[in-house]
Amino acid sequence: MIKGFIFDLDGVITDTAELHYQAWKKLADDMDWHFDRGVNEKLRGVSRMDSINIIKDHNKATVEEEKLAELAAMKNDIYVASLDTMTSEDYLPGARELLTHLRQEGFKVALGSASKNSSKVLKQLDARKYFDIIGDGNSVAKSKPEPDIFLFGAEQLELQPEECIVYEDAESGVDAAKAGGFHSVGIGPKERVGHADVYFETMREATLFSVKSHFGELF
Ligand code: BG6
Ligand code: MG
Repeated sequence: MIKGFIFDLDGVITDTAELHYQAWKKLADDMDWHFDRGVNEKLRGVSRMDSINIIKDHNKATVEEEKLAELAAMKNDIYVASLDTMTSEDYLPGARELLTHLRQEGFKVALGSASKNSSKVLKQLDARKYFDIIGDGNSVAKSKPEPDIFLFGAEQLELQPEECIVYEDAESGVDAAKAGGFHSVGIGPKERVGHADVYFETMREATLFSVKSHFGELF
């Protein structure tokens, strides 16, 4: 029986991918590194330090660990400042409606994000009230595609993985959900999340009704 839902944040609840892109782009420009939207796609769902390593390797650059951490912190300062412009109007279409519906129906709900900035994003959106448990980049050591963040969420919700549906927009996030034994809903194109149990182009289509129709006997 499905008793809970675990949501990724960036790209599922709100479109922070653009703000992450702008911040990485600013850093890359300052470093005279190449960075475009194609490379940015590879960063979806990937932790901050893994992200900077991908950008560094893409540029075949050699950077000491300490300097790399400094650069990642610079990017983060730019990103966090840009979150100030985010408001409770900035949910991806369909996301707030779904969260509201889950509250009405009494499902348990957790966040399962790789971001260490989830509390600020949730505050800007006024979304904290929709979640019983917050799992984010500060909760576990191993990031997606390892299942740890979702296992953390399920444990805190006092549910088994098979009692939860995970919503994810990243390839590594769907991998993580599957590795943990969760049911999965992919948000985005088939090439990215087609390996989820069911996938929808956008959150607008991923309603409780659609998900119930797909998972039928599990509800
Ligand atoms: C993920 C994003 O949710 O969080 C990634 O998809 C991001 O793009 C990662 O790098 C880490 O976020 P933060 O806010 O801790 O730098
Ligand atoms: Mg995401």
